[in-house]
Amino acid sequence: MVEKYANLSLVLAELIREQLQAKPDSCLGLPTGRTPLGCYQILSTWSANNQLDWSQARCFQLDDYIDVQEEFSFHQYLQDNLYRFTNVNPKNTFNPRHIADYDEQIASLGGLDLAILGIGLNGHIAFNEPGTPVASWTHSMFLTEATRDANSEFFPDENEIPTRAVTMGIQTILGSRRLVLVASGESKRDILEMALHGAVTVDVPASFLQKHDNLLVLTDFDINTEQLRAEP
Ligand code: PGA
Repeated sequence: MVEKYANLSLVLAELIREQLQAKPDSCLGLPTGRTPLGCYQILSTWSANNQLDWSQARCFQLDDYIDVQEEFSFHQYLQDNLYRFTNVNPKNTFNPRHIADYDEQIASLGGLDLAILGIGLNGHIAFNEPGTPVASWTHSMFLTEATRDANSEFFPDENEIPTRAVTMGIQTILGSRRLVLVASGESKRDILEMALHGAVTVDVPASFLQKHDNLLVLTDFDINTEQLRAEP
């Protein structure tokens, strides 16, 4: 399993490296959570060794908590796990919490080239929880109890788990030229199957990804094949 997770992380890191080499000023949508940590470690090593240039890259975090102590914010997560090891220009790291019109900001820089997405056990992508309409742009919302529970390990005290967040919407995500959906661990198998092969429904926000014609799915467990392309 660890070996497979290491593989997944390397494939993902290589995808991001290729994207930055092909287009140094790429606009990237970057996730947080457990899944991308291995990939970020690899990218951090390459970057610290001057093997990867972020000087023109534009990094858009997918989402962040509202009303959270800065140390628990997703911006801080990206700072700690990736940005500080790279030469990314802080002016080119974007946080939806601090930008009034995130979609306009993304559009003004040419649109997202590549967005990396995790999937929640309830089918959320970024913080688009079940019930989020497909016609959604960056918005703030209340987190479900399931999501607050899933993220409780990152907080010392359950009272500190935020109740609200701001997230790219489904349209923001579908607007990216390329999407990579990453799922690690058997616990994600059922929801991933539903997202990729079930009905396209607001009950499983990740199912909207079936509408995208450049989606790559990476897993570290067997699901038909280890990497598969969803039907457009
Ligand atoms: P995880 O989170 O990588 O920590 O499992 C994924 C998500 O909730 O989007």
